[in-house]
Amino acid sequence: MEVSIVGSGYVGTTVAACFAELGHSVVTIDVDEAVVEAINDGRAPIHEPGLGALVAEHGGDRLTATTDYGVAPETDVTFLALPTPSNADGSVDTSIVEAGAESLGAALSGVEDHLVVVKSTVVPGTTEDRVEPALTEGGADVDVAVNPEFLREGSAVADFTDPDKVVFGTDGGRGVETLRAVYEPLVAEVDPPVVETGRREAEMIKYANNAFLATKVSLINELGNICKAYGVDAYEVADAIGLDDRIGERFLRSGVGWGGSCFPKDVAAIIAAARAKGYEPELLEAAVEVNDRQPGRLLGLLDSHVDVAGKRVAVLGLAFKPGTDDVRESRAIPVIEGLQARGAEVVAYDPVATENMRERFPEIEYVASAAAALDGASGAVVVTEWDEFAALDDAFDAMAEPVVVDGRRIIERRDGIVYEGLTW
Ligand code: UGA
Repeated sequence: MEVSIVGSGYVGTTVAACFAELGHSVVTIDVDEAVVEAINDGRAPIHEPGLGALVAEHGGDRLTATTDYGVAPETDVTFLALPTPSNADGSVDTSIVEAGAESLGAALSGVEDHLVVVKSTVVPGTTEDRVEPALTEGGADVDVAVNPEFLREGSAVADFTDPDKVVFGTDGGRGVETLRAVYEPLVAEVDPPVVETGRREAEMIKYANNAFLATKVSLINELGNICKAYGVDAYEVADAIGLDDRIGERFLRSGVGWGGSCFPKDVAAIIAAARAKGYEPELLEAAVEVNDRQPGRLLGLLDSHVDVAGKRVAVLGLAFKPGTDDVRESRAIPVIEGLQARGAEVVAYDPVATENMRERFPEIEYVASAAAALDGASGAVVVTEWDEFAALDDAFDAMAEPVVVDGRRIIERRDGIVYEGLTW
């Protein structure tokens, strides 16, 4: 099929490259000339395992990019994969999606039988109330469907090509057939459950998925905090409760909490959406509150062993999770702020996220290895579970005061150091 995708961010580029791999001809539309040039040259504009190889293979061939919406009418279907950032009150800002829909609508004016698919994360009713009107105000005759994306940063290609589910939200019109055709090669290959539902339901499924997972992590963090108070190892507890199929073993890693570009934004958005309808979502609010408290608990454990004022403290890990250089809403941010408020001299290390964090905290010291961060430090806090931290051993001997507070259960050494786990 001929597929166009508006937006070449994480989701748009990954989906475009994967659709090309499935045999479709894909063109992405993006305002960023550098991104367009990269794709046409066969270079992935973002760092994501497996994506480079796909873009190298198909870029400039079955996968092309342009800044011109005018290509959309030549395709069978157009996906909108534009960002939906947060407003100051946490509600979702749909202005970028609406502006994209307007430009697309103008380009599609006079075209018949075209399907537009919203892949962006939007609250229930947005497609119907905002995107569809924006698309059709120029006279375009289009069907509009919703197809949320569940891929994770760091495993985006693998998640897309072998998904737990695929969700098609349509208004009951022809859209569902086009969506089935687009996904047919994927279904033929890995046969994921395909959920065919309404548009509002599809929009809500995305939020419910992320809100559930974020709350699951906050619940294990809350239980973990209780475990710590009673000298219980939360990971042994999690391993056991995870054996109950109704609970499941995944997303039970307790520690310094969730960050990233999705959980914080999406939980805030669904809370705001609930309030807009007069419902106070107390459980989700509590999930956010537990998450907000974990960095302070990490620092509290450090305080109980060392007064860090005027001393060097190592922060190990800056990315919001391993496998990415993304620092958006990383727990490292409140941890660094807390250390600064205590008058500590922060020395940070991350294998890939240093440059991104430097933009946020230009004033702290960044070093090229975990060992260099630990050298002379009176305390270390672990914020991201990079594998390489597990292998740190003698490096702790170079600390001025060997106090290590682990927020991710990754450090293996125990002897000869003061080791505190956040929930164990
Ligand atoms: C998340 C969802 O997992 C994806 O399904 C979804 O598509 C995506 O958001 C999105 O909405 O775009 P992502 O933010 O890339 O994906 O990362 P996750 O692997 O889900 O991790 C999120 C945060 O939770 C990280 O900070 C991670 O450290 C934390 N986490 C996760 C825990 O603290 N404990 C766990 O057991 C699992």
